[in-house]
Amino acid sequence: MAKMWKGRFTKSATQSANEFNASIQFDQRFYAQDIQGSTAHARMLAKQGILTADEAEAITSTLAAIKEDIEDGKIEFTIENEDIHMNIEAVLTERIGDTGKKLHTARSRNDQVAVDFRLYMRQEIDLIIALVEKLKEALYKIAEGNQETIMPGYTHLQRAQPVTLAHYMLAYYQMFSRDASRLTDCRKRLNQLPLGSGALAGTTYNTDRDFLAKELDFDGICPNSIDAVSDRDFALEFLSDASILMMHLSRFCEELIIWNSTEFGFIDMDDAFSTGSSIMPQKKNPDMAELIRGKTGRVYGDMITLFTLMKSLPLAYNKDMQEDKPPVFDAVDTLKASIGIFTEMISTITFNKDTMRAAVKNGFMNATDAADYLVRKGIPFRDCHEIIGRIVLHCVNNNTAIEDIPLETLREFSDKFDEDIYENITAEACVNAKKSKGSTSFASVREQLETIKNSK
Ligand code: ARG
Repeated sequence: MAKMWKGRFTKSATQSANEFNASIQFDQRFYAQDIQGSTAHARMLAKQGILTADEAEAITSTLAAIKEDIEDGKIEFTIENEDIHMNIEAVLTERIGDTGKKLHTARSRNDQVAVDFRLYMRQEIDLIIALVEKLKEALYKIAEGNQETIMPGYTHLQRAQPVTLAHYMLAYYQMFSRDASRLTDCRKRLNQLPLGSGALAGTTYNTDRDFLAKELDFDGICPNSIDAVSDRDFALEFLSDASILMMHLSRFCEELIIWNSTEFGFIDMDDAFSTGSSIMPQKKNPDMAELIRGKTGRVYGDMITLFTLMKSLPLAYNKDMQEDKPPVFDAVDTLKASIGIFTEMISTITFNKDTMRAAVKNGFMNATDAADYLVRKGIPFRDCHEIIGRIVLHCVNNNTAIEDIPLETLREFSDKFDEDIYENITAEACVNAKKSKGSTSFASVREQLETIKNSK
């Protein structure tokens, strides 16, 4: 098959060179964006008198038909036509002859691929943000229903202080809110039109890039044609945001895996999101959570791939940049699948509230509150810390808990202890004694829930 750029060549490429050079295997994903960009370009060329109205009409209506045919699986892309841009142009020219050949006036594949890529990213970012919003809804619901479910909070994976499950869920809610907001920022920055930049230097035709920007719903045009065709920072920004989001999901998954263990027993994963073992009949494994954790590495890899690809490229376009798409596609697919599955999984988990509550009992999680009690009785905090430390040691040696020590024994450690110590160190008291904004007390969490609701 003859190449569109065959003019200055005396030999055709070997089959293996053709295959190596082609990107159609993966960039066919851009078919809709490519047609959208070309349609706007044809309209602009007609408006500027570069094409006649009839020519533009023939081009745009044929492109619409090609789009349908692609969707119906009626078009076979070829390696010889290299990429999605030339494949579509080839079909167009096959159908309307010379008029089809005029579409590429005042355009290069360099600005064409850049506009396709940005249109694609924009669409996918919107879809991903919608998925994150659903996930946030699911977390909000769990939080709303568990405002008084008390569980251990950890540092170093050691029992630290009691918190509520609602507080815990809202912690992740905040992380995912920032993830969505990062993606929104990314979308805002990438929404500038590269088309009309030509290969790198601009075009000699009297084009109207502002018109193109409006047609394609961009906020404005890329102000520098070399930059417009050279940079992929929008894709890197997306991959960075995607990596952070996956990291949040992965931490959450790790947490669920731990909570799901027999040792913890805080949750039961729904059967639909667990798998069995081929050898051990008793097993119910949290595979979905583990896979999301694993796929996080994959998305980091996608990000590193593109960073490495771009790091030493001189301006402007280099063919290396054709390799920019697979990692982005992989990250998009992985992200969408992971957020979707995670949302279903978290929505179907059973929280074993009694087990969580019982876990608060062991581990001296009220030690800080016992110290705070003594502070209220006038002892400096550092001294209180030491007194309670000695009480904890006594408990460890005698296999008991602070709240189970009789008052006269407590008084051997400090004469400031009174009968009211016991009501001050229940798990509920520990939780509700927290006064600071954003804390775990029932009132504070209610306030956090309300703030979220009002901001919707
Ligand atoms: N398939 C190419 C890519 O994805 C399109 C741009 C090619 N431009 C060029 N001058 N070879 O990057």
